[in-house]
Amino acid sequence: MSSPSPQSNPQPDLDESINVTKAHGRVELETAATLRESRIAENGHEPVALWVIVACGIVLLVAGAVLGRAGNFFSYGDLTRPNYVRDEIPGGAAKGPASKPALAAFSSRGKNIYASKCNGCHGADAKGDGTNYPSLVGSKFVIGDTQKFAMIVLNGIQGPTSSGKVYGAGVMPAQGAGMTAVELASLMTFVRNSFGNETGDVVSIDMATKAFEISAAREKAGQSVTAEEIAAKHMTMLPGEVLEPATMVNPSNLTPAP
Ligand code: HEC
Repeated sequence: MSSPSPQSNPQPDLDESINVTKAHGRVELETAATLRESRIAENGHEPVALWVIVACGIVLLVAGAVLGRAGNFFSYGDLTRPNYVRDEIPGGAAKGPASKPALAAFSSRGKNIYASKCNGCHGADAKGDGTNYPSLVGSKFVIGDTQKFAMIVLNGIQGPTSSGKVYGAGVMPAQGAGMTAVELASLMTFVRNSFGNETGDVVSIDMATKAFEISAAREKAGQSVTAEEIAAKHMTMLPGEVLEPATMVNPSNLTPAP
């Protein structure tokens, strides 16, 4: 076997033409350039130092506080109109329950109270049964002055009744427990204007409130009233503010509609 010729390169990957000193110098230069460039952001500017950002923030805060206090520098007043009130939504006012004349509104509420509290004894037509329960139609204790009727509802009645008759069922039990002034006012208005009764007036919530006070102050508070007590003390209208039957009221709370 012949020995390798002097021309053939025993390490073919190594370029013999490389000048090691020169190459080393180039590497040094390139490294320096890379280091320098890595500090420069892509947009070509040097990054801003953090302390500069913080300092700017503090300056803006102070300036904002001073200028804002001194004048309307940042005032939102420029963006709003003084005393501006938004227009009503079209049809918005019609959203609530339609108001009704007081007489109708009180009566329709009272109808339900009659059904739950009085119907069972006095009947759906309020005519009673002639023997055990008296009629409320045309009864002198229902129509006319309001105070006697209120005292009977709140305390019950021990006969004789307005007709002089004592009914078989005996004493009418008090109906006032748990009743509100609105309920008493509407119940009384309903009975006084239904079944053939036609007083044409409204027992107001204020009058009903007074009825509770008068009832609580009775000499025989807690006992049923008698025709005798009615004649002596309650043949009068309830005090309190009168509500005209035609006054428009909100049917949900029975107070005058705006
Ligand atoms: C448990 C049965 C009963 C209930 C409920 C009842 N009543 Fe009576 N009521 C009577 C009786 C009985 C008499 C007659 C009492 C007597 O003769 O002693 C009477 C008498 C009356 C009188 C007197 C009538 C007159 O001409 O003298 C009025 C007014 C009256 N009731 C209204 C009402 C109203 C309003 C209600 C509902 C809130 C009601 N009552 C619920 C049994 C009842």
